[in-house]
Amino acid sequence: MSNNAKSAQYSTLSRSLAVGDDEPDRNLALELVRVTEAAAIAGGHWVGYGDKLKADGAAVDAMRSLLSTVHFNGVVVIGEGEKDEAPMLYNGERVGDGSGPECDVAVDPIDGTRLTALGINNAIAVLAVAERGTMFDPSAVFYMEKLVTGPEAADMVDLRLPVKQNLHLIAKAKGKSVNQVTVMILDRDRHRPLVDEIRAAGARTKFIMDGDVAGAIAAAREGTDVDALMGIGGTPEGIVAACAIKSLGGVIQGRLWPTSDEEKQKAIDAGHDLDRVMSTSDLVTSDNCYFAATGITDGDLVRGVRYNKGKVLTQSIVMRSKSGTIRVVDGEHQAHKWESYARLK
Ligand code: FBP
Repeated sequence: MSNNAKSAQYSTLSRSLAVGDDEPDRNLALELVRVTEAAAIAGGHWVGYGDKLKADGAAVDAMRSLLSTVHFNGVVVIGEGEKDEAPMLYNGERVGDGSGPECDVAVDPIDGTRLTALGINNAIAVLAVAERGTMFDPSAVFYMEKLVTGPEAADMVDLRLPVKQNLHLIAKAKGKSVNQVTVMILDRDRHRPLVDEIRAAGARTKFIMDGDVAGAIAAAREGTDVDALMGIGGTPEGIVAACAIKSLGGVIQGRLWPTSDEEKQKAIDAGHDLDRVMSTSDLVTSDNCYFAATGITDGDLVRGVRYNKGKVLTQSIVMRSKSGTIRVVDGEHQAHKWESYARLK
């Protein structure tokens, strides 16, 4: 296809994603938030019961059910579940009512299944959508090294640099000293050497048990106590986070981190360069993407689901990269109506 034809196709798609044929400028994120609310409410029933598969299954079913009502023609390209054989919205699954624009869909019905099962903070239901063919295909490499920081240092950091140098660059860009820089990091044994490097450089660590989508947002967003996220986490979560960072500003850099020779070979066969450092726009090339997340348990990003005298209260954050709009949405749902509504399909 010629470049002109490609760009004409892109702009038609771009317009149809934002502007429905028969409606004014439409923010898909405001439809998507109903989907993450449903997943969070369903998953939230399982908070603290110690069963992450049941929690995940409930969130997946609710997400699938509400996705079918969204006015778009989506394909799940970043499905979640293969890593631990959880119930899944699988890669290649068609979602949406099939009538709108063609989209790539990245789902994470619960980012923090263990947090949900244990009743620990920071579990969220997440969904990201972008134009068709614009999300990176990780070809079954489940982990990625990540570096996330906010807009001030976005153009300075580089995953290939020594940790100490990146921390100094972040400190300088933010006008702080290194001992005022806080790095969020998943609490994993594989991160011990990285933790040592961060501390040796003079910076602080803030551990999270799980949930590095919310962690990436904390690192990129203004007004949090986190300056960067570093370490190895899920590749799907990295792509979902990239969709949010397109709205927030800042950067996520990632390098695939295969855990076995088999995974390595698969990635090479799929044409991946394992030394390549990808940036936000490599993980999602579209500048027209949408992100929605609803709290399951309380967190720094959003409050968790509350079930209260026949009402269910939710809190979500929705973003649209084209406009850069970020909204925090408080939902008040009538429990009895919601139960039948969410099972509509
Ligand atoms: P799940 O809720 O899907 O299990 O993911 C939680 C999570 O902490 C992600 O946020 C993170 O990217 C990934 O797991 C890290 O994987 P691992 O737990 O294997 O280190």
